Amino acid sequence: MASTSATTDPCTVVVFGASGDLTHRKIVPALHSLSCEGLLDERTRIVGVARSELTDEQMLEGLFEGVQDYARLDPHACDLWPAFAPRITYLSGGYDDPDTYRRLGRHLEELDAEHDTGGNRLYYLAVPPQVYVQIVRQLGDAGLCRSDKGWVRMIVEKPFGHDLASAEALNDEIHTVLDEEQIFRIDHYLGKETVQNLLLFRFANAIFEPLWNRNYIDHVQVTMAESGGVGHRAGYYERAGVLRDVFQNHLLQLVTLTTMEPPSALNGKTLRDEKVKVLQAIRPLDPEDCILGQYDGYRQEPGVDRRSMTPTFAALKLHVDNWRWQGVPFYVRGGKALAATTTVITLQFKRVPHLLFLGNAEPQPNRLCLFIQPDEGISLTFDTKVPGGGMRSQPVSMTFRYDETYGERALPEAYERLLLDAMQGDAGLYARSDEIELAWGLMEPLLDRGIPHLYTWGSRGPAEAQAFMARDGRQWVDAQCEAAGVRCGER
Ligand code: NDP
Ligand code: BG6
Repeated sequence: MASTSATTDPCTVVVFGASGDLTHRKIVPALHSLSCEGLLDERTRIVGVARSELTDEQMLEGLFEGVQDYARLDPHACDLWPAFAPRITYLSGGYDDPDTYRRLGRHLEELDAEHDTGGNRLYYLAVPPQVYVQIVRQLGDAGLCRSDKGWVRMIVEKPFGHDLASAEALNDEIHTVLDEEQIFRIDHYLGKETVQNLLLFRFANAIFEPLWNRNYIDHVQVTMAESGGVGHRAGYYERAGVLRDVFQNHLLQLVTLTTMEPPSALNGKTLRDEKVKVLQAIRPLDPEDCILGQYDGYRQEPGVDRRSMTPTFAALKLHVDNWRWQGVPFYVRGGKALAATTTVITLQFKRVPHLLFLGNAEPQPNRLCLFIQPDEGISLTFDTKVPGGGMRSQPVSMTFRYDETYGERALPEAYERLLLDAMQGDAGLYARSDEIELAWGLMEPLLDRGIPHLYTWGSRGPAEAQAFMARDGRQWVDAQCEAAGVRCGER
């Protein structure tokens, strides 16, 4: 896969939806940080397109606020903004108006000529999903997807489709103007450093991989909890719900990276081939193995139907029917308005086969926790003897923390890595069409059915999610930590 030390080809990044939230909070701050680190070719230009009537100055003012508030690298510290801002221009126009694309075409040619951008174009669809097709068609009709001078690539935001049929239709539509190699379907979880570290941790260390299978692992838990509610995205969330919002993409990606076989080499094709094999091996999901929840107060959020059945929490069990994982359940949960914001993958190992220390509390099974965020790190929990008489055991942890080893702010933002990869033509950390469609196919039996159980804001989700684990004689890791009197991962 592409290296973050390499610079990129010169190109023009065209952001559709440039007046929006994602452009302000993620895309432009990420481009700015790349520029600060010298990773953006100095000829590269950025064109924002949106319907809002804004002058270049008004748009830049808004973008600067976003960079100040959200960029990893402080614009004052790297002192780059005055040189970065003139690279950005704004074009106002309707997404379905051919004139917008005629003007865009002319502007791109001017930029090519003035800044020697080589005719390379990176289109970024940062607009609501219902607008994707309009833009793709118009770009195609205007001849702006032809790559006679340089390369043409397109980043498509999530959600990619609303279900399997719409994802297939969207793939077909984009494939009419671009080849698969030109399409970059974003899942920002793949851009997170700690998610990529899963591959390195698994395949660069000899001691874990031999244990990484059904012989040693009892079960795996994947949690993506958020303490906030739906906020200003209620309009989108009402139609999506938690399964479409984070299960079809982020959570399934975490499952595939945890379970995939080692690829023969690390490149976009082999990596995605291995992930696809896992998705094909996941047993069809059973609605009986899925608990849905909705936080109390969701229906009072602005923009939410007072009788909404949209789930804001889900917990499900899945099985990977292959040689390595047969019989190992995967418990996956995610949701909003929960007790804490945390994303963590926990591998719980089997208990020892024979108990020597009778009369004492049973030792806790070993646990390996991969903390994706916040407090990124890895923690291994094992039992030790409590000093003194007898043979009392107590779980303790060995913990690695990114901030202690690499320093604060060492982790690049996911969007930085992903934009850089797209500019380098490396789609390994983007989802391929078959991956997206398999993931939707898996989710399909669970979508838009079931009545969510209510849960209190700030809780661990509905009580039914605890009972769901208890049915299998297991507990969620946070509950186990509490029972054992240790903080999860001793962090
Ligand atoms: P916004 O709602 O902010 O929309 C972006 C821009 O699109 C707006 O500024 C507006 O620009 C235009 N727009 C909005 N609604 C419509 C409409 N109905 N028809 C035509 N144009 C419209 O979206 P975000 O920036 O939040 O998200 C952009 C994309 O990124 C979406 O696909 C979203 O799902 C995805 N995404 C966003 C995340 C986030 O945190 N914001 C996180 C993950 C994914 P104008 O009116 O000027 O044309
Ligand atoms: C987005 C979801 O894809 O991911 C949001 O649409 C969610 O609902 C967000 O809040 C979480 O991302 P992160 O990087 O903050 O964990």
